[in-house]
Amino acid sequence: MTEQWRQVATLNEIGEGETLRVEVEEGAICLYRIEGAFYATDDMCTHGQASLADGLIIDGALIECPLHEGAFDIRTGAPARAPCKNALTCHRVRVEDEAVFVEL
Ligand code: FES
Repeated sequence: MTEQWRQVATLNEIGEGETLRVEVEEGAICLYRIEGAFYATDDMCTHGQASLADGLIIDGALIECPLHEGAFDIRTGAPARAPCKNALTCHRVRVEDEAVFVEL
């Protein structure tokens, strides 16, 4: 399948230090805004059935899962705290004017 850029949000939908769950055809992704930069990962925790958009951003660039409090590095998707073991899929993000695009 060919990857493609898709607009998923506008800048005013996600504030600094916030997450935003966005439904796309392939499932759901979680957008993050950290110190002015945008990141995106799959929204579903790799440990269980939890939406990471409901979690907390901690220690600058980690997302803490709301269910068992495991964590991932938002920038790389790498597991950062047990019980998370498997990495999250990350998506590239591009901002043009007021629009946020994610590569899917
Ligand atoms: S479901 Fe996320 S840490 Fe268990």
